[in-house]
Amino acid sequence: MRLVDPYTPGAGKMPSCLAGRKELVENAKLNIQATIKGYPQNPVIYYGLRGVGKTVLLNAIEKEADDLPVICEHIEIAERGSFIRQIAISSQKMLRELSVLEAAKEAVGKLKSVFTSFYVTYNPEDSSFTAGLSERAAYGVIGNLSEDLTELIVSLGKTAEKAGRPICFFVDEIQYMKKSEMEALINALHRSNQLRLPIVFYGAGLPKILRIFGEVKSYSERLFQFVEVDNLKEKDASEAVIQPAKDFEVSYEKVAVQKILEQTQGYPYFIQALCSTIWRKTSSDVITGEDVIKNEPIYLEDLDKSFFKVRFDRCTKREQEFLFAMVKCGELPCTIANVAHFMDANVKMISPIRATLIDKGIIYAAGHGEIDFTVPQFDSYLRRVKTDL
Ligand SMILES: Nc1ncnc2c1ncn2[C@@H]1O[C@H](COP(=O)(O)OP(=O)(O)OP(=O)(O)O)[C@@H](O)[C@H]1O
Ligand SMILES: [Mg+2]
Repeated sequence: MRLVDPYTPGAGKMPSCLAGRKELVENAKLNIQATIKGYPQNPVIYYGLRGVGKTVLLNAIEKEADDLPVICEHIEIAERGSFIRQIAISSQKMLRELSVLEAAKEAVGKLKSVFTSFYVTYNPEDSSFTAGLSERAAYGVIGNLSEDLTELIVSLGKTAEKAGRPICFFVDEIQYMKKSEMEALINALHRSNQLRLPIVFYGAGLPKILRIFGEVKSYSERLFQFVEVDNLKEKDASEAVIQPAKDFEVSYEKVAVQKILEQTQGYPYFIQALCSTIWRKTSSDVITGEDVIKNEPIYLEDLDKSFFKVRFDRCTKREQEFLFAMVKCGELPCTIANVAHFMDANVKMISPIRATLIDKGIIYAAGHGEIDFTVPQFDSYLRRVKTDL
């Protein structure tokens, strides 16, 4: 039994070796430095499957930004939370930080009125939030979220410009943003981008956000830089396996690394989980191919009980049937017509199930009328659950 486990299976847990993301982090750092020099860059959105490393990438960039003369705020959107409320709170915090800078004092004074009149109210009946500028309400004008958020962000950006201190937003789990919030955010960033205000924006979310952004505003493709975060290439995946053990003078046989890469397909979460299992179950200085083979069933059992099962259990019986039918299609992504065929139903009947599964973040529209799982290797899990597939 070893004392310390250098592997980090979990959600957003920074690995001891952040493999394969050097270029992305470096590019982000250059982007932020360009904004500091007065050349603001387009907002960036990372998208990718569950467990591929979006959160740790955002955190790694934020860490770089912490060493630069910028003001950062991190927002993680909850499934039923209000992004507007969060960004309003974050903006207030940023304003407070700006207010101590001499160059911004006057501008902050003016801006305070925008902030104090930006209200967010919660309606417990339908769990909805409304937000906007309260002065509009005072004049009986119905608030327009896009206009109000734009005013807030642009005012903040102008103050940041005067203070010579760019502001950076890091927003995780963007797929949980409501359409009206997304529209408001896109408008606000579009305007601040046109005005070349020193606002840096990094977001991350599941692949479905690509489509939603396009639907909400067709110009999103030109405004945002969408960057896919994928599973690790062979060299990087090997590094993620080998490097953490090096500090403990533990190495891997070549064949052991190969087997880990085969099993995990280079998905960071799977690498961390499998290596952690092997680490805990072995004690020699060289991890062999045999060690990997022996521990694979334990790793899969753990994974099934946690990572996969929590997602599977969130689905109704009918939704689970839909997922099984996707596996029966034999190839992923698959078409909804093919799924309907394996469910003995027609497309119209199963479309609402498809919609709720997308909503729950279990599947996503992969393009050309096709769908796929947002969780890597979910099909293998379903085959283990239902062996007659
Ligand atoms: N580049 C990497 N190298 C090594 N390990 C990594 C890397 N990126 C992420 N990990 C590990 O993978 C796991 C998942 O990372 P993370 O939570 O950032 O994924 P995610 O894409 O945000 O997932 P989700 O969509 O569920 O939020 C963590 O255990 C983390 O330590
Ligand atoms: Mg995440």
